Amino acid sequence: MTAKPVSIAVVGSGYVGLVAAVCFAEIGHSVICVDNDERKVATLRAGELPIHEDFLAELLARHRNTRLQFTTDLPSAAREAEAIFIAVGTPQSDSGNADLSYVDAVATQIARSIDSYKVIVEKSTVPVYTNEWIRRVVERNGTSSTNFDVASNPEFLREGTAVSDFLHPDRIVIGADSEQAADVLKAIYAPLTSGDYYRSEHAVIGQRTISDPPPVLLTSTKAAELIKHASNAFLAMKISFINAVANVCEAVDANVEEVARGVGLDKRIGSQFLRAGIGYGGSCFPKDVAAFRYVAEQLSVDFGILSEVEKINDEQKRRFFNKVRSALWTFRGKRLAVLGLAFKGGTDDVRESPAFDIIRMLLAEGCTIVAFDPAATERAKAELPPSPSLQYAEELYAAATGADALLILSDWPQFGELDLEKLQTLLRYPIVIDGRNLYDPREMLERGFTYLSVGRPAVYPARETAGARSLR
Ligand code: UGA
Repeated sequence: MTAKPVSIAVVGSGYVGLVAAVCFAEIGHSVICVDNDERKVATLRAGELPIHEDFLAELLARHRNTRLQFTTDLPSAAREAEAIFIAVGTPQSDSGNADLSYVDAVATQIARSIDSYKVIVEKSTVPVYTNEWIRRVVERNGTSSTNFDVASNPEFLREGTAVSDFLHPDRIVIGADSEQAADVLKAIYAPLTSGDYYRSEHAVIGQRTISDPPPVLLTSTKAAELIKHASNAFLAMKISFINAVANVCEAVDANVEEVARGVGLDKRIGSQFLRAGIGYGGSCFPKDVAAFRYVAEQLSVDFGILSEVEKINDEQKRRFFNKVRSALWTFRGKRLAVLGLAFKGGTDDVRESPAFDIIRMLLAEGCTIVAFDPAATERAKAELPPSPSLQYAEELYAAATGADALLILSDWPQFGELDLEKLQTLLRYPIVIDGRNLYDPREMLERGFTYLSVGRPAVYPARETAGARSLR
């Protein structure tokens, strides 16, 4: 790659920090990734990964100990770098506000360490006023304003496809209020924006190519901060919107997928993020919608739609729970198979997983649950420990054996390819309640299942149809 390598420190080795550090090394920079968790740093130094992401292991192996180092020593990493990316957690506080104490602590340490010009870059998702606070904290701790700039470079990667999202982005947003800071960030992303990276035979394959590299959007720091919050809030809004449409569909026996297809073909709307289900979860949407709502409240801006987005999302889980009740009548003593614990398929992350809320509601009603997830079981056990009423199966069909009904709560591809004949023989009753719409209701009916999904007509085998409607 022809662009000049930049010396980069990335503080925080969570999803965003670790993926960014590995990918910066992949596009030719010299990177030091900092974390105060000694065990995590030791793990990474040994070439092991605390998270699962496609391509991450091979890129770590490719660059570890050459262009990519790991350390707990923030002061020396900050001193050596031209650009310092802050990618530490910004958890949600009780008010919905983002808790910025980790960002504050890192900014203070950076200020006390640096002795030459640095660009301090916010990579974590932060509220719009954060860059001003970082600037103030750094100055208060003795660094002259001529010795640093604060910039914002939000990240739009999704868990499960984080590496290819990073290297093949829809856009790169650089929020900087000085030319010097913008130039450093432009140099960092030059291998992608020039298309050079995609020339390499080892490049991770994705949507971008030499002739179609990602565009750069240069904005003010504040606008960049807002782009991130507004993007996540908009995507969450799309999901809540289609979930509300799904509820209307249920009331009139229409199919939300037909509606979503018809709506999404309008290019102004777009077809993505219109999958109805049990609501969004994960470490980003719930936290970011709440934080954006809080920011608006603080600025006396009436942004009530964000509260509605949250309300619909919460309600969606209760509606699903009621759907399970409508199929089973009573809960006490029933044994349910649950497929999916992660907040979506393809990840082991259970943070803010809608599956957990539903499981808790069912357990509170006296059900016994046997759950299965291809990757998230260990993490799930830490949050919901096994008990006589909650067991974790090691194999999918073991969860289904003897169950009164099967619930699908995450969209892992293998949950959409179940051996339905086998399932018929294993389940005590052939009842599937699908929170992710992975099956065609007509096919499920032909196979003899009672099948309830989201925003689509419920189907009952002939022996059950008489009276099923009146019972709903
Ligand atoms: C999300 C955004 O998609 C990324 O662009 C962003 O960078 C990231 O948050 C972040 O801020 O770090 P992620 O949380 O990994 O990424 O997951 P998504 O694939 O967006 O899914 C979020 C939730 O929405 C999941 O629970 C998923 O099942 C649900 N979802 C998604 C739906 O219910 N319907 C849909 O149509 C799409």
